[in-house]
Amino acid sequence: MNTLKFNNHDEMPALGLGTWRAAPGQVKAAVKAAIELGYRHIDCASIYQNEAEIGQAIAESIAEGRVTRRELWITSKLWNDAHAPEAVEPALRRSLDRLQLDHLDLYLIHWPIAHRQGVIFPRRGADFVSLDALPLAATWGAMEALVEAGLTRHIGVSNLRAEALLSLIDGARRPPEVNQVELHPYLQQPQLVATCRAAGVHLTAYSPLGSPDRPADLKAPDEPILLQDPTVMAIAEAHGASPAQVLIAWSLAQGHAVIPKSVSPARLAQNLAAATLRLTAKDMAQLGALERGRRYVTGAFWALPGSPYTLEGLWGPR
Ligand code: A2P
Repeated sequence: MNTLKFNNHDEMPALGLGTWRAAPGQVKAAVKAAIELGYRHIDCASIYQNEAEIGQAIAESIAEGRVTRRELWITSKLWNDAHAPEAVEPALRRSLDRLQLDHLDLYLIHWPIAHRQGVIFPRRGADFVSLDALPLAATWGAMEALVEAGLTRHIGVSNLRAEALLSLIDGARRPPEVNQVELHPYLQQPQLVATCRAAGVHLTAYSPLGSPDRPADLKAPDEPILLQDPTVMAIAEAHGASPAQVLIAWSLAQGHAVIPKSVSPARLAQNLAAATLRLTAKDMAQLGALERGRRYVTGAFWALPGSPYTLEGLWGPR
């Protein structure tokens, strides 16, 4: 398995397991099956509300001798209501308790969006705190302290556009090492990718399959279905592979880490096997031509009336 390398010589397996929307009741079995199949990178977040089950799966897999803690790469993310510097370490400790771990490999600021403490999903403008009042740099200072305390080996961000990433790097003692963002052939984000490369920030691609099981209220009525794209399907057929495997192989070929979500053992195995699918230069050119700026996770839920956040502020001008 390819890995992404860090300055301290740690290596993150490039292909990981996504757990957003992996439902309680399903996710423990899925994580155990994934580890058994050979997954060594599990992507978690406090807001997915399934860390306790993932923790059980990890603990049981270790106790059964299937894997060691050192072989695993576990990521989690700070939720938006815990950006206040004094709230950061307690939030990480709650994730560690649920995951039954004494440290994470990677902890990310989930969104450049702050809520009032205790507001999980904002419903009105007053539920937010602006980044002027609670700058990301202040949250970042508390993230840096987590590395120094040995609670996580690496820190990073998620959903940051290039300008926000560069300004965070400017004031950082420990620059972010990863930016986890939506990336797939319909949203290739070339400017962000170039910025991250130049700054030595790894990218992890989320929603690499186009996140087809998002709740209906997060879907646009007319949205194209990435897994059914005719070009993706034709390339898959030519390789005797599945469309999902082509999409995963595309991310890996770009040098990104990629975290397809599945709770089905058959699809977990299929997705892992994508690591050995070699796309040709022609395949890559055809996939490259699919770019259409299609964001499936739009962030519209942060741009409620009265919110200090706008989609343009989040992603930049369209
Ligand atoms: P399931 O969990 O039932 O396997 P993304 O990673 O872009 O968020 O997409 C995850 C969605 O894609 C889930 O609905 C997942 O369903 C589905 N999925 C995962 N792997 C495959 C695959 N190999 N083929 C088709 N659908 C898949």
